[in-house]
Amino acid sequence: MMELETIKVEQEGKVAIVTLNRPDKRNAMSPQLHLDMVEVLEELRYRDDINVVVITGAGPAFCGGMDLKEFFLKNRDDKVGFEKAYRAATEWRGRTLRYFPKVTIAMINGFAFGGAFSIIEGCDLAVAADDARMGLSEVNFKLFPGGSVSKSMANLFRPRDALFYGLTGRPFDGVEAARIGFINYSVPADELRENVMALAHEIAAKDGEALRATKDGYRLSLEMSWEASMDYTLAKQDQLTMRQGGGWMDKGIGDFLGKKYKPGLESVES
Ligand code: COA
Repeated sequence: MMELETIKVEQEGKVAIVTLNRPDKRNAMSPQLHLDMVEVLEELRYRDDINVVVITGAGPAFCGGMDLKEFFLKNRDDKVGFEKAYRAATEWRGRTLRYFPKVTIAMINGFAFGGAFSIIEGCDLAVAADDARMGLSEVNFKLFPGGSVSKSMANLFRPRDALFYGLTGRPFDGVEAARIGFINYSVPADELRENVMALAHEIAAKDGEALRATKDGYRLSLEMSWEASMDYTLAKQDQLTMRQGGGWMDKGIGDFLGKKYKPGLESVES
């Protein structure tokens, strides 16, 4: 579907699979990888035929975090160069993914360290191999979880877990990641792809506008007062009715009343 220097994109039905593709460097995020991800997400954002985006890594790693050489050392004396790379790096993981108009799933196939936590947190759902190894490794090389990672920890970790793993830098596996709520669940490594793709296709078969409204309603309500949220979701409902041409009322409720399906147990046919 798309092949950039550091990213490969494939399509399977309504699901796009985005693979970080620097296996020799454990898919560490170089400035080029950040720019490539910005381009890929900009393209996928407008694709009507895609409802779900799965992000994974080539080879033994999901993502080795920031490319410590290309991102930090090479930009050491180049303030503007660093700020450009920093902006791209934080925007796509911290903001673009969070409010992306498609559902996003992190498929964590192996190593995930430091900056990789912001990809995982930015995605709506995350599933790992039982034996994947993750860690807030920054303290191990005398740094701290900078960029978007501190905010990712604050958003998703319980306070004790954030500081335990941030301060020790200890790696943990997929089973532990699920226990602390960093991911949804883990499965044996040889079942990961099949499991995640089944989940992706289950979600992708639903109405794309309803999926988008589900994300927006949740994520933006988190930031609002009760009053603002009630007003926002009412406006959102009108927006959804308009975008679907009345679909949820006519087809969604209509087919239920016509005894064609039971929405408590299954999805309406699209
Ligand atoms: N930045 C830059 N290069 C990295 C990297 C990173 N974050 N992670 C891995 N690489 C490179 C290595 O330098 C090595 O390159 P080389 O072959 O040119 O020497 C290559 O990827 C393979 O790494 P290696 O350590 O030999 O592989 P491994 O499978 O034994 O171990 C890791 C993998 C991920 C455990 C290990 O590379 C590591 O600890 N990386 C740093 C992880 C980290 O702290 N990331 C947080 C950054 S915010």
